[in-house]
Amino acid sequence: MLAGKNVLLGVTGGIAAYKTTFLVRLLIQQGANVKVIMTLSSKEFVTPLTLSTLSQNPVYFDFIDEKDGELRWNNHVEHAKWADLLILAPLTSNTLAKMVSGACDNLLLATYMSSNCPVFVAPAMDLDMYAHQSTKQNLAELTKRGVHVIQAESGFLASGLEGEGRMAEPQTIVDRVHTQLRAEALLYGKKVLISAGPTREAFDPVRFLSNYSTGLMGYELALRAYELGAEVIVVSGPVEPITLPHSVRRIAVESAEQMYTQVMNHFDGVDFFISSAAVADYTFSEVHPQKLKKEENTLVLTLQRTKDILRELSSRKKQQRVIGFALETDSDLSKPLAKLQSKSLDAIVYNTLSDAGAGFGTDTNKATVFFADQSQIEIPLQSKRSMASALWTHFSDKWL
Ligand code: CTP
Repeated sequence: MLAGKNVLLGVTGGIAAYKTTFLVRLLIQQGANVKVIMTLSSKEFVTPLTLSTLSQNPVYFDFIDEKDGELRWNNHVEHAKWADLLILAPLTSNTLAKMVSGACDNLLLATYMSSNCPVFVAPAMDLDMYAHQSTKQNLAELTKRGVHVIQAESGFLASGLEGEGRMAEPQTIVDRVHTQLRAEALLYGKKVLISAGPTREAFDPVRFLSNYSTGLMGYELALRAYELGAEVIVVSGPVEPITLPHSVRRIAVESAEQMYTQVMNHFDGVDFFISSAAVADYTFSEVHPQKLKKEENTLVLTLQRTKDILRELSSRKKQQRVIGFALETDSDLSKPLAKLQSKSLDAIVYNTLSDAGAGFGTDTNKATVFFADQSQIEIPLQSKRSMASALWTHFSDKWL
């Protein structure tokens, strides 16, 4: 979620400043561009060199500094404009009070005063300072002004006392930032159901009929929907492990019949159903309870049609937007268009194996999206991740 975001980290002078090394690493690992502004006293607790090395950027602490004999003005307004997010961690009682009063006697405070982006603060103080009435009032005042306060945690404090006042752990800070970004995003409050991966149709306890779907496109759509604030359920056939955030519900199924049941169970309350699964069109009429032994030179197994999950659900839709996928082996556009119509879909994402880099087993995809209102959008070859992002942008533009 933080990929490509400009995160400005303000470090103030408390012992918890050492933890910002981990915070910077986490932010960088998430793909954020990180710049650090330190107050002068924070340099006693963590070195600018460490934070500069980890953030891969110069660290700033004064309005003016000297480089190669030249004076350089660190323009607080430019820093503030650069930032998509400002995080002050640790936040001392002193800086907290100045933020509330509007005092502006260092680069960090001037940058804060000039910022228009979301601001997060992670206070860190000793027991009695954190419990002090002025701290409580100042934090309440910042909250009232829209600053996101990440409460201090309980535990051993540098003074030897035990109680509330420890800066939240770096992971907790990052998690809180994620939660907030999701709450401000496009799909917040929306429910999304996605089917993904192949199905397996067994004909005895050790053999099955399946296809080459990896599920990646569906999982990327799920991840992006989650990042955009949606509540997401993925009903997935058997795929190699793909990491999803814990809050994305993943329901594992094997057969088309199981996928049908699970998708059906969750369809009613959702806003979007995206059917990206490669569901088997046929299943075996008979499943042998024991391993089938070879006997004759030829073996005839009878297949019968599975339920068309997408068609069935689309016929029941109320508020749901229902989106199908059509993977073809040729470039005959009448096929996806026929599916769009016959299954009463709101949109169909069509791709063809005749395009290099599209379809199963690749990290990339290329698609044309046909909408029920007869508009269409070309999505050029790109990673499945960025395609998921592009698809949600188009769906939101169309329907939100
Ligand atoms: N689908 C489904 N249930 C099935 C089969 C497919 O929900 N039993 C969904 C897929 O998830 C996809 C779309 O339907 O969104 C694909 O359309 P479909 O007409 O079934 O295409 P194919 O299975 O590729 O079949 P064909 O081209 O032979 O019609």
